[in-house]
Amino acid sequence: MNDTVFTRRSIRRFKQIPVTDEQIRALLDSALVAPSARNGQILRYCVVSSPDKLQEVFNNTAWAGYVHPKRIPLRDVSSPMLFIVVSAIKTGPEISPHTWADAGAAIENMLLTAVELGLGGCWIGSFNREILEKTITQPEDQTALYVVAFGVPDESPILERIDADGDTRYYLDDRDVLHVPKLTAEAAARYL
Ligand SMILES: Cc1cc2nc3c(=O)[nH]c(=O)nc-3n(C[C@H](O)[C@H](O)[C@H](O)COP(=O)(O)O)c2cc1C
Repeated sequence: MNDTVFTRRSIRRFKQIPVTDEQIRALLDSALVAPSARNGQILRYCVVSSPDKLQEVFNNTAWAGYVHPKRIPLRDVSSPMLFIVVSAIKTGPEISPHTWADAGAAIENMLLTAVELGLGGCWIGSFNREILEKTITQPEDQTALYVVAFGVPDESPILERIDADGDTRYYLDDRDVLHVPKLTAEAAARYL
């Protein structure tokens, strides 16, 4: 049983402690050994940790829609200390579905590695691609796919189990703790 898989939760409150160069390197190394279609490895990574660039990326991301605005990190209080923007080299007019799958595999590797490093992360799909490509990732032959936020966790979300008819929306309890419902195998799998 792999505990890391079960303990990983999306983290949206971070201690204001820098992520070290060694930790950044470990995150990248884990992404770079992820599976990729045809072992094509067309993903590229933009590592953002300087204060002004962190703020620029943060300003163009959206957080925790179901509990809006309560899990938007606060500047200099709970904001991420590292963003990694995952981009793909453009190989044709459109990004292939396999490219999105490649990004998912690489990001999950980084999120699990983060847990093992004592960090937490949040996968961000809601971001202003146009602005970030202009100001952050820049190379014209790349498309930004996802942003991933990292830092030392300053919250401990709780995993809940739900049946097939359960509500999948995460929620905050009256102590401001985030609860994250997940389907059971009975609810989600068929056995033939
Ligand atoms: C493709 C994808 C896009 C996501 N985009 C966002 C996002 O824009 N903002 C955010 O706060 N969380 C985002 N998340 C995190 C999900 O909300 C989170 O994974 C989900 O609520 C389950 O919680 P868990 O990660 O703790 O299991 C995204 C996750 C995935 C896989």
